[in-house]
Amino acid sequence: MEILIVGGAGYIGSVTNYFLEKQGCKTTVFDNLSLGYKQAVGKTPLIVGDLENFHEIKNALSSKRFDAVMHFSAFSLVGESVNNPLKYYKNNVANTLNLIKAMIETETKNFIFSSTAAVFGNPTEIPITENHPINPINPYGWSKSFVEQILSDTFKENFKFVCLRYFNACGSTADGKIGEAHANETHLIPLILKTLLNQNAKPLKVFGNDYETQDGTCVRDYVHVLDLAEAHFLALEYLLKGGESEIFNLGNGKGFSVFEIIKAAEKVTGKKVPLEIAERRKGDPPVLIASSDKITKKLGWEPKFKTPESIIETAWKWHSENPNGYKEN
Ligand SMILES: NC(=O)c1ccc[n+]([C@@H]2O[C@H](COP(=O)([O-])OP(=O)(O)OC[C@H]3O[C@@H](n4cnc5c(N)ncnc54)[C@H](O)[C@@H]3O)[C@@H](O)[C@H]2O)c1
Repeated sequence: MEILIVGGAGYIGSVTNYFLEKQGCKTTVFDNLSLGYKQAVGKTPLIVGDLENFHEIKNALSSKRFDAVMHFSAFSLVGESVNNPLKYYKNNVANTLNLIKAMIETETKNFIFSSTAAVFGNPTEIPITENHPINPINPYGWSKSFVEQILSDTFKENFKFVCLRYFNACGSTADGKIGEAHANETHLIPLILKTLLNQNAKPLKVFGNDYETQDGTCVRDYVHVLDLAEAHFLALEYLLKGGESEIFNLGNGKGFSVFEIIKAAEKVTGKKVPLEIAERRKGDPPVLIASSDKITKKLGWEPKFKTPESIIETAWKWHSENPNGYKEN
């Protein structure tokens, strides 16, 4: 199997690449390295290119007969998307059009897309199933839902897709060699671990402790990046066996509060997390939990990392062994 991994030098793409190689897939990474790292790609062939340039992606797709494309490349900071929506619509939507067009022109048939729980906005029911209304509350969420719509409009017999809507991705490979290295980190687990490693001189900010949840802090669904990688592999097998285009939610199916995650991190690391309670952030729903029943029933996917401790152990290995992230870009 030959797979092109677009955005494969970034966090989830690089772990998926690592996982696919272990399953015997032949992979090639296409990435402009704006947010990703060569080191995360390892020995996989890397094409440095930008989706903004149609010819670069078309040339990459023409270089081999690819069985499928996995598309991880995007901007994904919610706050930045509110301040600079055009940046998000350009990279996440317009540049994805280049990829889809190049796939159609090179007759590359199967597409797996990194979507997000942000397409649901403020949930009206928990757990969130695929039938929950699509109602994004920021340009990032809209950009992903537009691509979902474009895919369903473009879908034909010879162009099929699977959209995977991840909830909160976290963790690293078990050997601690590939992990989360976002220059502008906004995710809870790496922020906690960086605080413990003293990279953030200030205490960890907990945004709101007066939500209607068990301990007042927001509840989220944390799904291990290796579980996400496995879901990509199963989606790939599904499409290659002739499966129809599908959209799946992808989460652990369990919610953990900010305080529960902090407690788990303290247990794993043996260190006390210095924290301060800050104002609620605008647009943070109290609870986000996925129903992953559909992907479990249809593809047999089950998360292997079910507890916050098991997730944080791998993340801690990565962060403590690589406190400054990757050594080279
Ligand atoms: N991290 C999460 O919790 C999470 C949750 C839901 C959805 N997602 C989605 O999953 C995907 C991967 O997320 P991530 O955390 O690994 O992001 P990331 O920023 O670590 O990786 C994105 C990669 O895409 C590359 N890239 C960006 N624009 C490009 C372009 N125009 N041309 C070529 N390469 C380009 C970057 O260099 C980077 O290597 C994204 O689409 C994101 O929206 C992530």
